[in-house]
Amino acid sequence: MPRYSDELIADIFAANDIIDYVSKYVALTKRGKDYMGLCPFHSEKTPSFHVNADKQLFHCFGCGAGGNLVQFVMRSENLDFVDALRLLADNAGIQLPEEDSSYNDERHKHRQRIYAMNKLAARFFYERLTADKGGAKALSYLTRRGITGKTITVYGLGYAPDSYDSLLNFLKSKDFSEKEITDASLAVSRDGKTYDKFRNRVMFPIIDVRGNIIGFGGRIFEESELPGGYKPPKYLNSGETPAFDKGKNLFSLNLAKKSDSKRLILVEGYMDVITVYQAGIHNIVATLGTAITENQAKLINRYASEVLICYDMDEAGRKAVLRAIDIFSKAGGKTRVVKLKDAKDPDEYIRKSGAAMFKKALDEAVPSTEFILSVIRLNHDLSETDGKIGFVSEAAAALSSVRDSIEVDAYINKISDETGIGKEAIYTEYRKHISYPAGKGVQSTFKTVQTTGKAIRSIDKPTASFDAQRRLLNLITGDKHIYDAVKDIIKPEDYSPGIMQELAGRIYGCRAEGREPDAAEIMNYFSDDEMSMSTASSVFYELSEYKDKRASALSNVKTILLEKNKSEMRKYADDINKLAELIAVKNKLEKLELTWD
Ligand code: GTP
Ligand code: MN
Repeated sequence: MPRYSDELIADIFAANDIIDYVSKYVALTKRGKDYMGLCPFHSEKTPSFHVNADKQLFHCFGCGAGGNLVQFVMRSENLDFVDALRLLADNAGIQLPEEDSSYNDERHKHRQRIYAMNKLAARFFYERLTADKGGAKALSYLTRRGITGKTITVYGLGYAPDSYDSLLNFLKSKDFSEKEITDASLAVSRDGKTYDKFRNRVMFPIIDVRGNIIGFGGRIFEESELPGGYKPPKYLNSGETPAFDKGKNLFSLNLAKKSDSKRLILVEGYMDVITVYQAGIHNIVATLGTAITENQAKLINRYASEVLICYDMDEAGRKAVLRAIDIFSKAGGKTRVVKLKDAKDPDEYIRKSGAAMFKKALDEAVPSTEFILSVIRLNHDLSETDGKIGFVSEAAAALSSVRDSIEVDAYINKISDETGIGKEAIYTEYRKHISYPAGKGVQSTFKTVQTTGKAIRSIDKPTASFDAQRRLLNLITGDKHIYDAVKDIIKPEDYSPGIMQELAGRIYGCRAEGREPDAAEIMNYFSDDEMSMSTASSVFYELSEYKDKRASALSNVKTILLEKNKSEMRKYADDINKLAELIAVKNKLEKLELTWD
């Protein structure tokens, strides 16, 4: 959230024109109301990047990036909101008042201090690799594993000395306090003593998409045992800090995002990433030592249209793949699973079989549904009747979350061939699961995602009505009469919780005060992360021309409220009275007309 006054921010916006500014980065040509060019935030060959002078907004229909001018600067210069605003103020010769010390400001400064410490630490570790005896051992370990000097530099790998205070002393000499160093998870305090967290380890800096070093992973490289027979963990990662959230970042995404590929390979280990990268395959990332989260899946979806999951091939790895598929299906992404033969992980595979074979394995990756079916198949003996029945019933359940009916049909055919059980019987089984959607509306969600593209993946909780919400808010922003006609029928709380509701609140708020909603200004409230920016700008940046705005408003209102009604019916499936009420609401909604003044 901005902490400068609205007036000042408005002045900065007024003094900078988005077309002029963006033109420095992108060759823009005027097309209709918009300027268009090749998106600077993803690689493309035909322009889908739009800038609109009236709204002072940009939006890419390819990758979903969007926002106002400050947010363009945030993305293109890797700055946070306040720093981007400062840059634009500077540009226009506007003097900003001295910083006040609001809470946000403190947090912002704290984070910046951690980035600074991490950067110094990374350099320190990197230099130690060639500095002393311990470093030489670490270096020879990496060399033994086939890592080249160039790769070490690309990843900024390093060595944390076998000492309790070398980094600590170094950072203190750079004017960081012990407390700051422990807050950054570079040191730990115990019994009143503070000492280096990472000791005698190969160090892997973890870098976010903006290029900040947010944390580290450290790997032991020689057998060691602490007093009491305690064995140190193979990997030690930075703890959570104001700069480091393991569930929201990915190892090597900063490098992978530069690759042209629309596919992103997801692996488990840092070393897997590094070996594959070194083999010339750059579109690869790893989670940070934990199972993949929905936030990470969304992050991946922003950079790729297809994910290739390439996990270890053991029992634990298979389970992790199933979990990842599930997470991606919630976040709305397409997944395939890579099967590597005769190797435990990608690192080993590359070293045994080479990059060409690895690429081949990537091309042969199986669709996630096929992978799920193969796992189910493992649990049943298809030569026995019981086994066949068990397989068919679990497979039919699994198919219920497949959205594409042609795909379902193909799999059912295959299962029928495999088991000799008739297609109709399998369909009947399958329908049992469909009528009771375990999918919580996932099916309709996916359609929205598919038809509207990537931007929509970034919403909090996608529902079938998301598109309608987006259109309706767009219509309300552009036309006061539409607001007047719908405001008593659909309220901000009827929109999806999260960004949509907040947007609705702000847009309705302006209209209620008799003001025209200012898209660029409202966008400022959605500056926390790129996903909020994309979602918000997708509301303001509607491409379609409405043939009949009023009819469109009505149909969108109906879609949203009927969808809400439907989900309530599911919720109250056991409550006859409530259901009767909801059915009455539904009947009324179906006949709904708007009144226009
Ligand atoms: P190598 O064993 O050097 O090949 O590394 P790897 O990256 O292949 O590791 P592995 O497949 O064993 O583990 C995958 C990922 O899980 C690692 O990259 C770490 O992020 C994490 N991990 C592994 N072992 C530990 C551990 O002991 N503690 C923690 N916190 N994380 C671990
Ligand atoms: Mn490994």
